[in-house]
Amino acid sequence: MTVVQSPDGAVVEATFDYGPLEELLEKYQGMKGALIPLLQGTQAAYGYLPKEAMIRLAEALGEPLSSVFGVATFYAQFRLVPRAKNVVRICHGTACHVSGSPLVGLEVEKHLGIQEGENTEDMMFTLEGVACLGACGMAPVMMINEHTYGKLSPDKAVSSIKEFAAAEGNGGSETAEAPADAATEGEEA
Ligand code: FES
Repeated sequence: MTVVQSPDGAVVEATFDYGPLEELLEKYQGMKGALIPLLQGTQAAYGYLPKEAMIRLAEALGEPLSSVFGVATFYAQFRLVPRAKNVVRICHGTACHVSGSPLVGLEVEKHLGIQEGENTEDMMFTLEGVACLGACGMAPVMMINEHTYGKLSPDKAVSSIKEFAAAEGNGGSETAEAPADAATEGEEA
């Protein structure tokens, strides 16, 4: 059992699995400028950057914890909280923006009761804004997990999320599959 003391003196984790992190530290041992790849590897291993991992990284690199947190919070690619079961991505790329994605995003935020970067309380959905989903011809576009929904209106986006949630609830799927008919005519080939 590993107990780690946070800077404020609290015991932050007694059961955290340090295995994947220690493997990464071994891989990058002695390498200069390894913080970013270490953070990327940590996020790939845990799905986000747990506080316990950041404390261990700071200790291993001989850096102040504040520096590690500073880098982690500077780059948008890093997440400090776990993702929910399903991820809704709203595209804010140019094609989607001019086609109405701001209104789509606002309506989805209103429906889920959260803002981009947040999780719903039941951990059913994480909402994210992204630069381009690579389906500009179907703008405005959003994705729920790996499923693409195109040519959206605000109402259509919300009803797609409602249908998805209903299918999740009814089907009890653990793999977050979208219903077979949930994707719009805009779904990618
Ligand atoms: S700009 Fe939205 S998919 Fe490319």
